[in-house]
Amino acid sequence: MYSAVQPSGNLTIGNYAGAVRNWLAMQNEYDCFFAIADMHAITVRQEPAELRRRTVELAATYLACGLDPEACVLYVQSHVPQHAELCWVLNTCTYVGEASRMTQFKDKSQKHAENINMGLMDYPVLMAADILLYRADYVPVGADQKQHVELARDIALRFNNRYGETFRVPEPLIKRDGASIRSLQDPAKKMSKSDENPNAAVFLTDDRDTVMRKFKRAVTDSDNCVRASAEKPGVTNLLNIYAAFAGCTVEEAERAFEGKGYGEFKLAVGETVADVLSPIQAEQKRLLADKKFLADALQKGAERAYKVARKTLDKVYRKVGFYRGE
Ligand code: TRP
Repeated sequence: MYSAVQPSGNLTIGNYAGAVRNWLAMQNEYDCFFAIADMHAITVRQEPAELRRRTVELAATYLACGLDPEACVLYVQSHVPQHAELCWVLNTCTYVGEASRMTQFKDKSQKHAENINMGLMDYPVLMAADILLYRADYVPVGADQKQHVELARDIALRFNNRYGETFRVPEPLIKRDGASIRSLQDPAKKMSKSDENPNAAVFLTDDRDTVMRKFKRAVTDSDNCVRASAEKPGVTNLLNIYAAFAGCTVEEAERAFEGKGYGEFKLAVGETVADVLSPIQAEQKRLLADKKFLADALQKGAERAYKVARKTLDKVYRKVGFYRGE
């Protein structure tokens, strides 16, 4: 199993409930590789010192959430040179037409019109290299990345047809919609770490007061009845969050708040979320104070990743006809 997250911006409780927590559940069942995709991050302008800081912080967050560096391979993408090397080969199996049709490329080209660089267009090919290097069967991603995983499949099949069986063809694992956490200010939108409205997202780093304040201001409706329904997207979102963090079903949450008003309900959602976050924050703080431990853990991760990646790349270089001295 392979997945990665870019070290851009803080993780939200949506990333936690939708991605990180699923990884925790999978780390003992699958051979898991989790990368911090710093090479993807520089396809949009980054402040170097900030990128470096976020990379370590993200590693500390994962470990604080319970990712076990013995059970899975946690590493930084740029520590393993084969990503860039395989990307180059895969570029020759990718058509400009298909890369330029990717929805995210089109969106980002609009958003960063002053910086439509080659890396932005090559982004999904680098992502295909990530996945194919580790012979992943499954790639858990958000729905917005499904198209990229499908491109990785197409590239793998194309390479295999051209050069003979080399890559395993990966499958996206898209998280169910129920787990999707929406913006607290506009439940029509996904909760996003880059939302302009500071009250839209709750971050894993938010302290208790901030968490409480954001939930207090969350958008609901006027009928003061805690029930999930399509007509009540704000309340439904809060119920989903409560259920995800209290470890119960939405029905159980509805029953718990029957006859209670929104004020009391929002307070309970905030407290439940803050209770889950505080031990994670304490552990993240402890880890960040131990720079040596973090650096060692990431180096060990990179070494384990390198072993697998090198094998795959050797095979690829042989297949395409690069002279290997024999
Ligand atoms: N592009 C992914 C995202 O922004 C991150 C990513 C990079 C990734 N490489 C990957 C996800 C490989 C899955 C597999 O969410």
